[in-house]
Amino acid sequence: MEYSTRTDTLERLSTDCLIVGVFQKRKLAPTAEALDALFDGLLARLLKRDDVEGKAGDTLLVNHVPGGRIDRVLLVGLGKREELNVAAYRKSLAAAFKVLKESGAKHAVSALHEVEVGQRGADWKIRQAIELLENGLYRFQEMKGASAEDHPPRLSRLQFLLASDQDAAPVETGIREGQAIAHGMTLARHLGNLPGNVCTPAYLAEQALKLGKEYKKLKVSVLEESDMEELGMGALLSVARGSRQPAKLIVLEYRGAGGKAKPYVLIGKGLTFDAGGISLKPAANMDEMKYDMCGGAGVIGAIQAVAEMGLPLNVVGLVPASENLPDGNANKPGDIVRSMAGITIEILNTDAEGRLILCDALTYAKRFDPVAVIDVATLTGACIVALGRHPSGLMGNDDALCEQLTRAGETTWDRVWRMPIWDDYQEQLKSNFADVANIGGPDGGSITAACFLSRFAKDFKWAHLDIAGTAWKTGADKGATGRPVPLLVQYLIDRAA
Ligand code: BES
Ligand code: MN
Ligand code: ZN
Repeated sequence: MEYSTRTDTLERLSTDCLIVGVFQKRKLAPTAEALDALFDGLLARLLKRDDVEGKAGDTLLVNHVPGGRIDRVLLVGLGKREELNVAAYRKSLAAAFKVLKESGAKHAVSALHEVEVGQRGADWKIRQAIELLENGLYRFQEMKGASAEDHPPRLSRLQFLLASDQDAAPVETGIREGQAIAHGMTLARHLGNLPGNVCTPAYLAEQALKLGKEYKKLKVSVLEESDMEELGMGALLSVARGSRQPAKLIVLEYRGAGGKAKPYVLIGKGLTFDAGGISLKPAANMDEMKYDMCGGAGVIGAIQAVAEMGLPLNVVGLVPASENLPDGNANKPGDIVRSMAGITIEILNTDAEGRLILCDALTYAKRFDPVAVIDVATLTGACIVALGRHPSGLMGNDDALCEQLTRAGETTWDRVWRMPIWDDYQEQLKSNFADVANIGGPDGGSITAACFLSRFAKDFKWAHLDIAGTAWKTGADKGATGRPVPLLVQYLIDRAA
């Protein structure tokens, strides 16, 4: 898709489809009103005739309008003017783009950014539009045979209508950032949706290396198992022992600021398939454990977005990648391994493997002298029990960092909800035979997982995002969501501002 601004009067504007807003109850937004006047009240009449009130998500596609320059008008319900919040705006945009996609229009012009959504600027509104449109256009088809019915939508260009005296700068910013974020989400979704037999640790590493060749300021390197051995990453390596696929630790270094500026470090769990290991998972829905690398995919997607925007920050991405399978050489319950930090771990459940690969990555993060470290992981089923599938779980050792992430989540609607990691919970990780156990029993499973990680994050500001409920959708529209790319990128944009 191509995006640009468009400055034209309505009298001169020509397009396949003009998208305009209507508030409840049938109150036309400015561009719709001007257009209605031009067409002698046609739009108002049609809204009335078809009983379309303008609720958020309502749409009315007018296929023939007078004048011959504008082929279609898409009226989009925005709900009550005073109630137009982020959720309603997103709902309206998503509904509009669904109709637009199916309308057959190749080019469209939208005026939906003219309405007020709280205090949000034009850049924010444009970003939302691009993210929602790109996400709506995304399909995962390369694993399917060529099928005749499934032809791609014809839509190829969306322009944002500007008044001749309107400042184009915020809209241009929105276009740039929106595209970068949407591309990052698409990459994350794509990597997530690939099956485990394709998207192995080596495949993830190759994709990251490819990315490194595309951007001058991005350097990508990959640590092999022999390197991890030398570093003493006994926890990460123990998980990989159960698999024939060698583990990789992918290191992405983006230098957008001067050489001396401390970096932000993002760590993403890259578990390309989680069968549970010897503590084998039940068969039902086990296919979804191909998504256990979505933290890693999110980090790779976020770094791509940051590189595409050329953000003036230093950002390091670390993706420990492995499979977790049962094998003669796999971890067994009761095994004790030694992490890179020197902390010994009793593995009471081999299915709690995410924290084992993350803890060595956390220790490795120290060498970058980070401003802050954020890890992202599909870490616990308990997170879905606690919070459902709307927010990601947030835990951390620094209130300011947690607040910044919460705010970034509200802005992008890629929301998080904080849970406590009080010392009281640490007792649940007590082991009779090692420094720490890798599980904390049935109570507060997401919290005790984060408490485990906190032991490896003492030397820096750290936050942990449990994306088990948000990284992919289950059920009929199963598929990766691209979260938390918007959240991570917004957090970094805010730091660069
Ligand atoms: N990758 C899973 C967590 C998960 C499960 C995410 C289902 C989304 C849906 C993780 O490695 C895991 O297996 N965690 C265990 C931890 C338990 C053994 C303490 C879990 O959640 O059951
Ligand atoms: Mn597991
Ligand atoms: Zn897992």
